Amino acid sequence: MKTVDDVEIIQLPRILDERGNLSVAEQFNHVPFEIKRVYWLYDVPGGESRGSHAHKTLSQLIIAASGSFRVTLDDGQNRRSFFLNRPYQGLLVHPGLWRDLEDFSSGSVCMVLASEVYKEEDYIREYDEFLKFRGL
Ligand code: TYD
Repeated sequence: MKTVDDVEIIQLPRILDERGNLSVAEQFNHVPFEIKRVYWLYDVPGGESRGSHAHKTLSQLIIAASGSFRVTLDDGQNRRSFFLNRPYQGLLVHPGLWRDLEDFSSGSVCMVLASEVYKEEDYIREYDEFLKFRGL
């Protein structure tokens, strides 16, 4: 199973244009999985946090499509925090990592590309259960 040391920020293409810039993410090209779902978080009130769970099989690319927020990842032994504030960068989050999202800026949009459709059975929402899943 992957650890927080395996986590990376993927640089997505940027097509700079005086009319406005454009970035893109293609499955199996910029993103190393088939994209089966896209969802986004928005209108997050100041001081609120999201996440607080892990996934058994889901891989995700988390993009600050607008504004900024912090993603803290935890493999049960180590934690790593990533500040996302560029719409052309994606945080590749492997399965089996606990994630917390916080410090959302006003008007921020957290866009997530996911390798699976929504399945509640894939979630681990209790930290004790997460440690057991990691064999700790
Ligand atoms: P959840 O993933 O727990 O939110 P977050 O991790 O962003 O804080 O999702 C919150 C609720 O939204 C969940 O109980 C069910 C619903 N939901 C869907 O129906 N489909 C989805 O793709 C997602 C991500 C959530």
